[in-house]
Amino acid sequence: MHRINLLSLTVPIKHNATVPIKRTAPSSTLQIIKKMENPKGNPLLAAIKQFADNPQKLQEELKKLVNEGQEKLCGYLVDMLALKDKNTAEHMRGAARIATKFAKEIGLSPQKTEEIRVAALVHDIGKIFTPLNVLNKPGKLNEAERAIMAEHAPLGKKFLKQLGLTKINKTFDNASELAEKHHFSIDKLHLTKKRTVEEEVLELSDVFNALTKRRSYHKPQTPKEALRIMKNIQKVQRAWSPEFFEKFTKFVEKTYCKK
Ligand SMILES: [Fe+2]
Ligand SMILES: [Fe+2]
Repeated sequence: MHRINLLSLTVPIKHNATVPIKRTAPSSTLQIIKKMENPKGNPLLAAIKQFADNPQKLQEELKKLVNEGQEKLCGYLVDMLALKDKNTAEHMRGAARIATKFAKEIGLSPQKTEEIRVAALVHDIGKIFTPLNVLNKPGKLNEAERAIMAEHAPLGKKFLKQLGLTKINKTFDNASELAEKHHFSIDKLHLTKKRTVEEEVLELSDVFNALTKRRSYHKPQTPKEALRIMKNIQKVQRAWSPEFFEKFTKFVEKTYCKK
């Protein structure tokens, strides 16, 4: 039995293959961020560079930034990732647009929709810690590289937590949880419990947007072709709940496949 791995999207690996997990996770994500250049004076990055060693002061700065507006703060996070990888930053914005539309389409409350939107906006933030030679490798990743790439999901949660953002409000706390889990369905991880609506909306929007964007390892697909690939993933892996996948399929056909 072969399955499709989202981290490479086209690389079939044996269902029971053991992937050597080489944990490269830094103990302090802030110490890594602290070393980044800040060419455009990103205020969040500036705060981290100044107060990475002073959690209390960093929290105060963070609260000031949140008071300027949650939207602005999300923008600073996405812009930070853009300093390393513009494509992934653009993908997070794209996934957020799709997730928001889909959440509205299926009648989720404004609060849930907003939580999903913020989660989608930051879901790949952990890629800021992924080595560029893995992140932008043209072609297929080998097993060790896939394991390194897979770290971006737990690292995203870790970073948002160490930054202190999860203590600021429930929306960011949820976003950190969703960031950690956003590859669970497709990679068949931790599937002992039913996926939540938020998890499924984010995962489907993430995969759809990733397929339609140019990546170092694949050409951009048309919405129609992306949907065909997703239907194939669903057929082989049953990654998402059937009713939910059906709803997403109809939404994509209606919203993105008509000229
Ligand atoms: Fe991801
Ligand atoms: Fe993603």
